[in-house]
Amino acid sequence: MTVIMNGNELSKKIKENLRLRATKLKEQNIEPSLVVVLVGEDPASQVYVRNKTRAAEQIGINAIDIRLPETTTEAEILDLIAKYNADETVHGILVQLPLPKHINEDRITQAISPLKDVDGFHPVNMGHLFMNEPLALPCTPHGIMEFFKEYNIDVTGKNAVVIGRSNIVGRPMAALLLNANATVTVTHSRTQNLKEIAREADILVVAIGRGEFVDADYVKEGAVVIDVGMNRNAAGKLVGDVDFASVNGKAGYLTPVPRGVGPMTIAMLMQQTIEFAERSLN
Ligand code: GUN
Repeated sequence: MTVIMNGNELSKKIKENLRLRATKLKEQNIEPSLVVVLVGEDPASQVYVRNKTRAAEQIGINAIDIRLPETTTEAEILDLIAKYNADETVHGILVQLPLPKHINEDRITQAISPLKDVDGFHPVNMGHLFMNEPLALPCTPHGIMEFFKEYNIDVTGKNAVVIGRSNIVGRPMAALLLNANATVTVTHSRTQNLKEIAREADILVVAIGRGEFVDADYVKEGAVVIDVGMNRNAAGKLVGDVDFASVNGKAGYLTPVPRGVGPMTIAMLMQQTIEFAERSLN
């Protein structure tokens, strides 16, 4: 039997707790505030940003929703970031990725103050994470660690395999698992014998961006399988990187798409914003 991990339910519970923390902050005259910047018209990004601002509203976080045209220059975005870095009433800043091709994403990520970097993408925050002294955690891997906590999955000493090495998911996921004492293998598009390696995993995190790539052949009986994918299949249906029907019944635990990792990412973004606002009290 496979336990289907419910990201909707868990994220709702987390957000209810965050609403109480937001209320407490307001009683102390702090209004938690998050700047969300979207450049261009990418439809997927528009949905993600909409979900983020809506979650903020539900919790009582002031979301400053900034939409900029595709033609915006890098200098204009850097000016905007500098303005909000200096604004003491703003606790978190995020620029939705990907950015249009004429803009250097690294330069944008590095311009955000590490103290307001709710995504945890700044190299300073990445460095702290890899040294197991985190100040801000990338939201998707953080949300996955919350799943383990909720479902009493102890990763200590376990064989964890991450498929994908992106800065947003794969690399920070590996660091978090290592910090939690798992034995971590990071695999990617050039990995040889991927299937054999995946089959050894007690915990398998799949973040490769290829629809329904991982089927039951990649999965050890009883393994924990986390699906970070968001793809449209040929029929236009939203699917993960894991072939759900194939893996369901073999895995011990499995996250669905949608209603798995996605809502947890947003809950962790909100949690990071509240934490930054709480730090401003001290
Ligand atoms: N694009 C895909 N995932 C993310 C994320 O977590 N944060 C931002 N800013 N952009 C993304």
